[in-house]
Amino acid sequence: MIKQLGFSMPTVFQLNKIEKACFGKDAWSVPNLVGEFQNDYSHMFGEVVDDVVVGYVCVRIMYEEAQICNIAVLPEFRRQGIATRLLETVADFAKVQQCQRCELEVNTANTATVQLYKKCGYEVVGTRPNFYRRTRRYPTRDAYTMVKTL
Ligand SMILES: CC(C)(COP(=O)(O)OP(=O)(O)OC[C@H]1O[C@@H](n2cnc3c(N)ncnc32)[C@H](O)[C@@H]1OP(=O)(O)O)[C@@H](O)C(=O)NCCC(=O)NCCS
Repeated sequence: MIKQLGFSMPTVFQLNKIEKACFGKDAWSVPNLVGEFQNDYSHMFGEVVDDVVVGYVCVRIMYEEAQICNIAVLPEFRRQGIATRLLETVADFAKVQQCQRCELEVNTANTATVQLYKKCGYEVVGTRPNFYRRTRRYPTRDAYTMVKTL
């Protein structure tokens, strides 16, 4: 079941576990996550199974724009539609917040995630060269900017 996640340290540790499983060295740390929860404009939604978060999305509401910062699902729970449902939840939430669009950046080589966003109604509107810092995960630092009009 998808729930809006409130701040608690057990939840932060669960999100940090997902981050490490999905992003390795680039994971958001516990302090990063605590800081994100403390931002008035940040909102977290998670798929909760047996009281444990197995996938989550972070969205920042910035006036007319909802910025998707991070989406991640534990490897053993993938390809079950969890990320799709998280993005649907974010779009519904952003509409209630009177946003006009959802926007995000994604590494141009992260083809699985680009595919996910396209399936959820996002379109590539531009490319940002060298947007990301260098990592071993992808052969490029370039990002697509993708937008879904609400
Ligand atoms: C990207 C991610 C969030 C997708 O989560 P998920 O719950 O498995 O996604 P869904 O089950 O909702 O998949 C929806 C669609 O996305 C696409 N997709 C998802 N994973 C894919 C993969 N590995 N390869 C190709 N397409 C993929 C497919 O079109 C899929 O539809 P289908 O299953 O009917 O073919 C997950 O793979 C993940 O956590 N990856 C690592 C973290 C990451 O890169 N996050 C994005 C950057 S912030």
